[in-house]
Amino acid sequence: MATVINTNLTTLNGFINIQERKYPAATGNLSGLLRSVGLAAKIVNRELTMAGLAEDMMGETGETNVQGENVKHMDVFANEHFIAAFKRGRRCCGIVSEEQDDMVVIDEEGAQYLVCIDPLDGSSNIDVNIPVGTIFSIYKRISKDCLVTKEDFLQPGTKQIAAGYVIYSSSTMIVYTTGDGVNGFTLDPAIGEFCLSHPNMQMPADGKIVSCNLSYKSEFPDFIQRYVDYSFEHDKASQRPYNLRYVGSMVADIHRTLLKGGIFLYPPTTDSPKGKLRLLYECNPISFIIEQAGGASTNGKQRILEMDPTSFHERTPIYCGSKNMVEQMLMMHN
Ligand code: AHG
Ligand code: MN
Ligand code: MN
Repeated sequence: MATVINTNLTTLNGFINIQERKYPAATGNLSGLLRSVGLAAKIVNRELTMAGLAEDMMGETGETNVQGENVKHMDVFANEHFIAAFKRGRRCCGIVSEEQDDMVVIDEEGAQYLVCIDPLDGSSNIDVNIPVGTIFSIYKRISKDCLVTKEDFLQPGTKQIAAGYVIYSSSTMIVYTTGDGVNGFTLDPAIGEFCLSHPNMQMPADGKIVSCNLSYKSEFPDFIQRYVDYSFEHDKASQRPYNLRYVGSMVADIHRTLLKGGIFLYPPTTDSPKGKLRLLYECNPISFIIEQAGGASTNGKQRILEMDPTSFHERTPIYCGSKNMVEQMLMMHN
């Protein structure tokens, strides 16, 4: 019998080209920006796979960032390489990064897109070889005829043109959306290409996994405490208790939630009364993906994507995941 050889391979770059052709008016600028994400992701991935061997890539730099968090060497490496890739790509007029207090203004003639980025998410997990990620969000600038302004970055998440994350794990993947569904690409390290492995991702409407740092439970709002108690109650008919899973890298916890269903909770706590996770480069891009995959994402009062940002590094509580679980959680409000 003749061997069947599967030549049906769609690379990230090939997929971007196919998508671009769907829109005759497309300029190719968004495509260029997405290619820059793919390239920087490969560079960060290469460094991360070696982190255990290169001692200077482990641990902290001794500095703290704008949010008072300890900066890791890999935070700096990822930040510099993503920013450099966007600059080289020449399609980007500005960047807000977790690692930089102020926006990075790029004087690039005609560039219409800006990026909000968490270059390395979950960086405290690097030294123990646990998955980490990158989260990005792309907007079109609203200002004209000048350099990019603060207001360009403070658009609600509903205005995102594209968003996604990279997960650096047992395999490395890019998952992104341009508002037309969610697609996932796995890096084939032998050929150095991200290949379409998860087309049109849709998340289960129900789930059995709750993802949350329960050490703060007594500090959570009452309705979240009630939901947590409900989740771990024993009731065969409703398949409870649910399972508890918490990696502590948002990207890893969200990736599992997307594939298996479940709910991810980061409520306000005493130390972080507005929650810990950042609206522009963590909650908005993740919420765009979750909603595009059929899930829901809220701050307890409104859709995350409808929030009006007021500053680059603002935080928000976030509750997101399988639609029916998020609805059930919101019912505890009453
Ligand atoms: P970052 O490394 O970009 O600062 O993000 C860390 C975040 C996020 O990845 C994770 O969900 C959360 O911090 C974990 O916080 P706790 O340790 O408070 O659970
Ligand atoms: Mn993060
Ligand atoms: Mn980070």
